[in-house]
Amino acid sequence: MTPVSRQPPILMVALSPRRATYTLIKSSRKASVNILGWDMLKILHYLGTVSLSKNPSKMATPEIKIVTVDGYPKIEGAQAVLYCDLRTQVSMGDHDAVFFDVVKVEFNEVFTPRPRVRDYKCILHIGGSDYTSSTDSVVSFDKGRITN
Ligand SMILES: Cc1cc2nc3c(=O)[nH]c(=O)nc-3n(C[C@H](O)[C@H](O)[C@H](O)COP(=O)(O)O)c2cc1C
Repeated sequence: MTPVSRQPPILMVALSPRRATYTLIKSSRKASVNILGWDMLKILHYLGTVSLSKNPSKMATPEIKIVTVDGYPKIEGAQAVLYCDLRTQVSMGDHDAVFFDVVKVEFNEVFTPRPRVRDYKCILHIGGSDYTSSTDSVVSFDKGRITN
Protein backbone atom coordinates (compact mmCIF):
# COMPACT_ATOMS: atom_id res chain seq x y z
CA MET A 1 0.00 0.00 0.00
CA THR A 2 1.28 3.47 -0.82
CA PRO A 3 -0.09 6.99 -1.06
CA VAL A 4 -0.01 8.22 -4.67
CA SER A 5 -1.66 11.65 -4.40
CA ARG A 6 -2.15 14.08 -1.53
CA GLN A 7 -4.67 16.33 -3.31
CA PRO A 8 -7.02 14.59 -3.87
CA PRO A 9 -5.99 11.93 -1.33
CA ILE A 10 -5.50 8.67 -3.25
CA LEU A 11 -3.77 5.50 -2.20
CA MET A 12 -2.83 2.38 -4.10
CA VAL A 13 -3.05 -1.17 -2.81
CA ALA A 14 -1.61 -4.20 -4.64
CA LEU A 15 -4.37 -6.82 -4.59
CA SER A 16 -4.38 -10.29 -6.07
CA PRO A 17 -7.58 -11.08 -8.00
CA ARG A 18 -7.64 -14.31 -5.93
CA ARG A 19 -8.46 -12.43 -2.70
CA ALA A 20 -12.07 -12.69 -1.48
CA THR A 21 -11.54 -9.17 -0.08
CA TYR A 22 -10.96 -7.85 -3.61
CA THR A 23 -14.21 -9.44 -4.88
CA LEU A 24 -16.11 -7.75 -2.02
CA ILE A 25 -14.45 -4.41 -2.73
CA LYS A 26 -15.37 -4.61 -6.44
CA SER A 27 -19.03 -5.25 -5.63
CA SER A 28 -19.44 -2.70 -2.79
CA ARG A 29 -16.82 -0.23 -4.15
CA LYS A 30 -15.99 0.50 -0.50
CA ALA A 31 -13.02 -0.52 1.64
CA SER A 32 -11.23 0.45 4.80
CA VAL A 33 -7.53 0.30 5.56
CA ASN A 34 -6.99 -0.53 9.23
CA ILE A 35 -3.57 0.23 10.70
CA LEU A 36 -3.00 -2.23 13.54
CA GLY A 37 -0.42 -1.74 16.29
CA TRP A 38 2.00 -4.42 17.50
CA ASP A 39 -0.49 -5.50 20.18
CA MET A 40 -2.78 -6.70 17.36
CA LEU A 41 -0.12 -8.68 15.44
CA LYS A 42 -1.92 -11.99 16.04
CA ILE A 43 -5.10 -10.59 14.49
CA LEU A 44 -3.17 -9.14 11.55
CA HIS A 45 -1.48 -12.49 10.85
CA TYR A 46 -4.82 -14.30 11.09
CA LEU A 47 -6.50 -11.89 8.65
CA GLY A 48 -3.54 -12.18 6.28
CA THR A 49 -3.35 -15.97 6.24
CA VAL A 50 -6.99 -17.12 6.39
CA SER A 51 -9.19 -16.63 3.31
CA LEU A 52 -12.89 -15.92 3.43
CA SER A 53 -13.33 -18.08 0.33
CA LYS A 54 -12.14 -21.20 2.21
CA ASN A 55 -13.42 -20.11 5.65
CA PRO A 56 -16.78 -18.31 5.35
CA SER A 57 -16.71 -17.65 9.12
CA LYS A 58 -13.30 -15.89 8.89
CA MET A 59 -14.65 -12.68 10.42
CA ALA A 60 -16.77 -14.41 13.09
CA THR A 61 -13.82 -15.08 15.40
CA PRO A 62 -14.42 -13.47 18.84
CA GLU A 63 -10.99 -11.73 18.95
CA ILE A 64 -11.97 -9.50 16.01
CA LYS A 65 -14.63 -6.87 16.50
CA ILE A 66 -15.87 -5.25 13.32
CA VAL A 67 -18.11 -2.22 13.38
CA THR A 68 -19.71 -0.78 10.26
CA VAL A 69 -19.49 2.99 9.78
CA ASP A 70 -21.59 4.34 6.85
CA GLY A 71 -21.20 0.95 5.13
CA TYR A 72 -17.41 0.79 5.67
CA PRO A 73 -16.02 -1.96 7.91
CA LYS A 74 -13.69 -0.91 10.73
CA ILE A 75 -11.64 -3.09 13.10
CA GLU A 76 -12.05 -2.00 16.71
CA GLY A 77 -8.72 -1.14 18.32
CA ALA A 78 -7.03 -0.06 15.06
CA GLN A 79 -4.53 2.79 15.48
CA ALA A 80 -5.87 4.48 12.35
CA VAL A 81 -8.59 3.78 9.80
CA LEU A 82 -8.73 5.09 6.22
CA TYR A 83 -12.21 4.95 4.69
CA CYS A 84 -11.86 4.39 0.96
CA ASP A 85 -13.94 4.38 -2.22
CA LEU A 86 -12.74 2.28 -5.16
CA ARG A 87 -11.55 4.61 -7.92
CA THR A 88 -10.00 2.35 -10.57
CA GLN A 89 -7.83 -0.69 -10.93
CA VAL A 90 -5.03 -1.59 -13.34
CA SER A 91 -4.10 -5.16 -14.18
CA MET A 92 -0.36 -5.66 -13.60
CA GLY A 93 0.45 -9.35 -13.28
CA ASP A 94 -0.37 -11.58 -10.35
CA HIS A 95 -1.60 -8.47 -8.44
CA ASP A 96 -3.63 -5.48 -9.63
CA ALA A 97 -2.77 -1.88 -8.74
CA VAL A 98 -6.01 -0.80 -7.04
CA PHE A 99 -6.55 2.93 -6.50
CA PHE A 100 -8.79 4.34 -3.77
CA ASP A 101 -10.12 7.79 -2.92
CA VAL A 102 -9.64 8.30 0.81
CA VAL A 103 -12.92 9.85 1.92
CA LYS A 104 -12.36 9.97 5.68
CA VAL A 105 -9.56 9.28 8.14
CA GLU A 106 -9.63 8.43 11.84
CA PHE A 107 -6.51 8.17 13.99
CA ASN A 108 -5.74 7.97 17.66
CA GLU A 109 -3.38 10.01 19.82
CA VAL A 110 -0.19 8.26 18.68
CA PHE A 111 -0.59 9.93 15.27
CA THR A 112 -1.30 13.37 16.74
CA PRO A 113 0.12 15.67 15.48
CA ARG A 114 2.73 13.36 13.88
CA PRO A 115 3.41 9.65 14.47
CA ARG A 116 4.92 9.26 17.96
CA VAL A 117 7.29 6.38 17.28
CA ARG A 118 8.04 5.88 20.98
CA ASP A 119 4.38 5.05 21.62
CA TYR A 120 3.68 3.23 18.38
CA LYS A 121 5.28 -0.07 17.40
CA CYS A 122 4.62 -0.37 13.69
CA ILE A 123 4.15 -3.89 12.26
CA LEU A 124 6.53 -4.57 9.36
CA HIS A 125 6.14 -7.77 7.32
CA ILE A 126 9.45 -9.44 6.48
CA GLY A 127 7.79 -12.21 4.47
CA GLY A 128 6.04 -15.50 5.13
CA SER A 129 5.19 -15.67 8.85
CA ASP A 130 7.98 -13.28 9.92
CA TYR A 131 7.47 -9.75 11.22
CA THR A 132 9.57 -7.01 12.77
CA SER A 133 8.95 -3.50 14.02
CA SER A 134 10.17 0.08 13.65
CA THR A 135 12.85 1.56 15.91
CA ASP A 136 11.91 4.20 18.49
CA SER A 137 14.64 6.65 17.46
CA VAL A 138 13.88 9.70 15.33
CA VAL A 139 16.49 11.22 13.02
CA SER A 140 15.77 14.79 11.83
CA PHE A 141 17.48 17.07 9.36
CA ASP A 142 17.90 20.67 10.51
CA LYS A 143 19.47 22.91 7.82
CA GLY A 144 21.21 19.89 6.31
CA ARG A 145 22.56 18.60 9.65
CA ILE A 146 21.28 15.48 11.37
CA THR A 147 19.87 16.06 14.87
CA ASN A 148 18.55 13.35 17.18
C1 LIG B 1 1.43 -9.39 6.29
C2 LIG B 1 0.66 -9.78 5.07
C3 LIG B 1 0.55 -8.88 4.02
C4 LIG B 1 -0.18 -9.20 2.87
N1 LIG B 1 -0.29 -8.29 1.88
C5 LIG B 1 -1.02 -8.58 0.79
C6 LIG B 1 -1.16 -7.63 -0.26
O1 LIG B 1 -0.58 -6.53 -0.22
N2 LIG B 1 -1.94 -7.95 -1.33
C7 LIG B 1 -2.59 -9.15 -1.43
O2 LIG B 1 -3.29 -9.38 -2.42
N3 LIG B 1 -2.45 -10.08 -0.45
C8 LIG B 1 -1.70 -9.84 0.65
N4 LIG B 1 -1.54 -10.77 1.63
C9 LIG B 1 -2.20 -12.08 1.48
C10 LIG B 1 -3.67 -12.07 1.88
O3 LIG B 1 -3.87 -11.28 3.04
C11 LIG B 1 -4.15 -13.49 2.11
O4 LIG B 1 -4.11 -14.21 0.88
C12 LIG B 1 -5.52 -13.60 2.76
O5 LIG B 1 -5.75 -14.95 3.10
C13 LIG B 1 -6.62 -13.09 1.83
O6 LIG B 1 -7.86 -13.23 2.48
P1 LIG B 1 -9.24 -13.12 1.68
O7 LIG B 1 -9.22 -14.17 0.58
O8 LIG B 1 -10.29 -13.39 2.74
O9 LIG B 1 -9.30 -11.73 1.12
C14 LIG B 1 -0.80 -10.48 2.77
C15 LIG B 1 -0.66 -11.39 3.82
C16 LIG B 1 0.06 -11.06 4.95
C17 LIG B 1 0.18 -12.07 6.07
